[in-house]
Formats: sequence, C-alpha cells, structure tokens
Amino acid sequence: MEIIKTTNLSRKYLKGTIEIPALSGINITIQHGEFVSIVGKSGSGKSTLLNIIGGLDKPDNGNIFYDGKDLAHFKRSELAFYRCHEVGMIFQSFNLIHHLTAVGNISLALTFGGLPKKLRVDTSYNLLKSVGMEHRLNHKPKELSGGEMQRVAIARALANNPKILLADEPTGNLDTTTSKEIILLLQSLNKEKGVTIIMVTHDLETAQKISNRVIKLKDGQIIDGLNNEL
Ligand SMILES: Nc1ncnc2c1ncn2[C@@H]1O[C@H](COP(=O)(O)OP(=O)(O)O)[C@@H](O)[C@H]1O
Ligand SMILES: [Mg+2]
Repeated sequence: MEIIKTTNLSRKYLKGTIEIPALSGINITIQHGEFVSIVGKSGSGKSTLLNIIGGLDKPDNGNIFYDGKDLAHFKRSELAFYRCHEVGMIFQSFNLIHHLTAVGNISLALTFGGLPKKLRVDTSYNLLKSVGMEHRLNHKPKELSGGEMQRVAIARALANNPKILLADEPTGNLDTTTSKEIILLLQSLNKEKGVTIIMVTHDLETAQKISNRVIKLKDGQIIDGLNNEL
C-alpha cells in the first residue's frame, strides 16, 4: 500500500523576472514502511521536494497523495493535522528551540499535538529515552553535542506518532562516527516501529547501503536509477 504518491509535481521559484525550475515532473511512489533516500547535488531540488511532501510548501503543478488523499483538497485544519500527526521532520541544523530544554522542546510539540499537560513530561521522558537521551533531559541545545541535538530533534519529530519521518540531510552537520549513530537510529525506527523514512543525503554510498531504494535528482528531475551520473 502506498503512503505517498506524487504525480507530475513541479515547483518554480521566481527570482525577479527569472524563473528557477526547482522541480519538474516528479513522479514517485513510496510504500508504507519503506526507507527511501533522495540523493543529488546541492540545488537539485531535494529540500523543495521534501518540503512539499511535508506540506510546508505547495507545487505549482501536479499532485501529492497521502494514503490516496490529494493534499490539494485538504482543508486548512486537515493540512495542519497532516503536518502535526502524519509527518515528522528533521533538518541538518536541528531547528530546536534554543531557550527550551530537551524536555521543553518535546513538550512543545506534544502541546501542538493536543496531549494533556499532565502527560507531557512523562511522554517527553519516554521519547527522549527511546533515542538514548534520558541523561540530558534538562539540557538546552547549546549544552548538547551535535549528535545529541539531532537525537532530541528526532524525538521531537516522533512526538505525535507520525507515520512518515522526513529527514533533510540529517547528518550534514555531524562527524562520521556520529553520523553513523544517527543513521542507525533512523534505521531502527524504520525496522522496529515501521516508520516510513524519506531521507535526503549527499552520501550515495550510505544511501545505497541502508535504504530500500535510492531516488536520484538532477536539476529538479529524477534521473534513471541505472544512471550513476549525478
Ligand atoms: N526561496 C527560493 N527562491 C528562489 N530560488 C530558490 C528558493 N529556494 C530554492 N531555490 C532554488 O531552487 C533550486 C532547488 O533548491 P533546493 O530544493 O533547496 O535544492 P537542494 O536541497 O537539492 O540543495 C536551487 O536552484 C535553489 O537555488
Ligand atoms: Mg537542501
């Protein structure tokens, strides 16, 4: 059963009078429980694609279906529900709230998800424990290492039990060893919890090793899976 399907998806940016085609005619289908990597050079449209799948941005043309439902037909409240409960996002720069502790960052996401106040601290603890962060509950982002910040961001992305985790170069700011740990964590979430993962990465070798499928983007288009040129 497919969880995400895009048909002929296109997105242009307008810079002054110049049109920049960030995505052109993207057709992808992602099955429930898949771990898919998206690779491509900087500027190839990877973030644009992920943001559209995450409901943060809209295509100019084409459609995106979640569990068979067209996102274009979602009411504002349905789109907000989709962004909060169906997808979780993580980024290269973690995007944590600096003045909040690890527990505070997770609790805030739980607030958006509508979890009653009395359950938020315990749920935050359990989420942080599940990513190996139970020893840093009251640390603020600046008191954490890069890998630890990304673990907190992953816990936050999982707060409202999303079915899909969208990861935009999640190891882009991490050293090799820490990158491997974060990739292993994502892999275990996929295998053990069945979370569908769509991960953007520069690292073709890792992508080929860990994911079910690698989608290659070049100049806003998918290039043949058999063609290794990037
Ligand atoms: N807000 C924007 N305004 C104008 N051009 C943009 C904007 N965001 C991205 N682009 C351009 O669209 C293309 C795709 O960008 P992006 O999706 O961020 O690529 P990637 O994530 O693969 O590096 C690039 O050429 C980029 O310069
Ligand atoms: Mg990008």
